[in-house]
Order: sequence, then structure tokens, then C-alpha cells
Amino acid sequence: MSKKIAVLPGDGIGQEIVAEAVKVLDCLCDEFGLPIEMESGLIGGAAYDEHATPLPAETIALSKDSDAILLGAVGGYKWESLDISVRPEKGLLGIRAELELFSNLRPAILYPQLAAASTLREDVVSGLDLMIVRELTGGIYFGQPRGIRTLESGEREGFNTLVYAEYEIERIGRSAFEIAMKRDRRLTSVDKANVLESTELWREVMERVSKDYPEVELSHMYVDNAAMQLVRDPKQFDVMVTTNMFGDILSDCAAMLTGSIGMLPSASLDLNGKGMYEPIHGSAPDIAGQNIANPLATILSLSMMLRYSLDESSMAERIEHAVNQVLDSGLRTRDIYADGMQEVSCSQMGDAVVKAILSEQL
Ligand code: IPM
Ligand code: MG
Repeated sequence: MSKKIAVLPGDGIGQEIVAEAVKVLDCLCDEFGLPIEMESGLIGGAAYDEHATPLPAETIALSKDSDAILLGAVGGYKWESLDISVRPEKGLLGIRAELELFSNLRPAILYPQLAAASTLREDVVSGLDLMIVRELTGGIYFGQPRGIRTLESGEREGFNTLVYAEYEIERIGRSAFEIAMKRDRRLTSVDKANVLESTELWREVMERVSKDYPEVELSHMYVDNAAMQLVRDPKQFDVMVTTNMFGDILSDCAAMLTGSIGMLPSASLDLNGKGMYEPIHGSAPDIAGQNIANPLATILSLSMMLRYSLDESSMAERIEHAVNQVLDSGLRTRDIYADGMQEVSCSQMGDAVVKAILSEQL
């Protein structure tokens, strides 16, 4: 029976990069019999323009009714002055919450072909393969109370709440330990337990969960040190697990180790492994519509989807081999361009991946 994918391109470069991932998916369906149906939906600013909400009920229904979701990106200058409750980002946060996609996997892998594109020395980053597991439906992103209030003095104050219930820490902990079991069995839990009670509890629960995973070596690190260690010696890490906001920040940092944020895919999973897949970069309004964005993070997100949600790891391998082959051949979008390489557009990069898939001998 064929499986259904909800395709939500969103805003900005989201439209361009998702179009390239869809080309790849079409190729796998037409040429290799992958049994997939796709249906598109609106999210973010694009949804706001049509329905005055960044997350229409139809998009929630479509996503719930699908086996997996492919998302581009949300946001852009056009919607920046809207009230925060209807800004494009609320669409993304809303769908994460609606589907309880609490476990966000953000792998940072350095493709050897791109070692020179990193701003860090080649010996620091070559061979990098780390996984950031970010809690995605709790913490300060969702904590109540929140808002901007006016004090008696007439001055305004903005406030947010960093709150984590034990069950939220426990389930993201288990998710991270399970991943560590399939890798090098080293897990670093990142917190700010020296200052924040919510992460003092985080640390305690991680210790407790670790009792069920004696083969995994658990260590703890404060987030400021983790940021420093990521750029000092990123290869010391295997799997990192952290809160929603720390994970947001550290994953951008880890992305740059790999040469470009345009290369990093992600998976956001619920308890049953149903997931939404998206590049970790945003909608990049400054380059939207110019056909110069890098579609590889989205194409690689598709391969994560095939592996994690659709049980089609051989199809995922086809994509990963093809991306390697394209990079070997010297094709580069602008963000990963280096001397001696051939610069290509977003759509040319997508075409090249399709061509490489068709020429593979697997
Ligand atoms: C991300 C993004 C989002 C986040 C924004 C767009 C709401 O930065 O997925 O990392 O902060 O989670
Ligand atoms: Mg982010």
C-alpha cells in the first residue's frame, strides 16, 4: 500500500528547495517503484496570506493523516510586523506541538568534499559526525506564563517561562540514549544546571534514565562550555541531548562546522516514530526567489524520512550516494562554493542529484 507524505513548502527559499526534493522523490517513485503519494499544504506566511492563520486546520488534518511530513521553511520580512500569535514561526511551532514531535534529530556530518568550506581548520572538522538531539515541544518555547505586560510604573516587561516536566525530560532522554546505542554509545547532556532549576532537574532525570542504558557513557556539560567545545574540538562528541532553546542555538553552531547551514537535514519524531523532516536552516528571505539556495539539506531530510519513518533505507542510500557523487563531481551551490569548483543553481543541484540517482549501480 502506498504511503502518504504531506508536503509543506512554506515561505522564502522553502518553495525552491522543496521543489528539488520533490523532483528526487518523483524520480524514486517513477524509476524505482517507491510507493508514495504526495499532497501539498500551506504553512507559515503562505498560509497566513490565504487563511489569516499560519497553521490552517486543513494543514493539521493533512499532516495527521500522513505517514510523514516534508517541510521547507517559514518566515520572511513581509510578516515580521504581524502580531506574534500569527507570525509564520507560530505555524511551525504549532505543528510540532500538535503532532507532539518532541524529539528533534539534527545530525552534523562533514562531507569530506566540503572540508575546505568550513570556517574551522580542516583537522578540527574532518571526519565530524555528531548528532544533536533537541527537545522540541517544551521548555521556554512553550512555557506559560509568557507575554509582555505593563507594570504599575508604566514600564513594560517581557517574560517567558522555562519549564520542564519530568516526563518530558525522560522521553527525550530515552530517545537520545536509544540513538547513542546505535552509534558510539557516548551521550553528552547539555544544561545550565549551575543556574537554572529546570535544568538541575534535567540533569537528575538524565542520570536516572542512564541506569537503563549501562552501555552508554553519559556525561554532562554546561551549555556555555558546550558552545565553546563545539568549535574547539567538535569531534569529542558523539550524541548531544539538550533543551529546546539550547538545541536551537547549538545546532546552528554545529551546522557551520560542516561548511554550510545549507547542508543540514533534521527529523522531528513523535513517540511512534512518525515524523516531520526539514532542513535546519530558515527561509532565507534575502536570497529567496533567486534560485541560488542549497537544496541538499532538504534532499537529505528526505533521505532521513525514508530511513526513519518509511522503512525504505535502500531508497535513502540511493539519495545519500547520489549527493556524495554530485559533491565528488565538483558541483556546488554558492554557499559551499570553493575555488576550482563549478557553481550551480538550486534547480541545477536538484537535477544533478536526480541524474546521479539514475546512473547509480546499487
Ligand atoms: C529552527 C528554527 C525555528 C526554531 C524557528 C524558525 C521558529 O530556528 O528550527 O531551528 O527556533 O525552532
Ligand atoms: Mg534554529
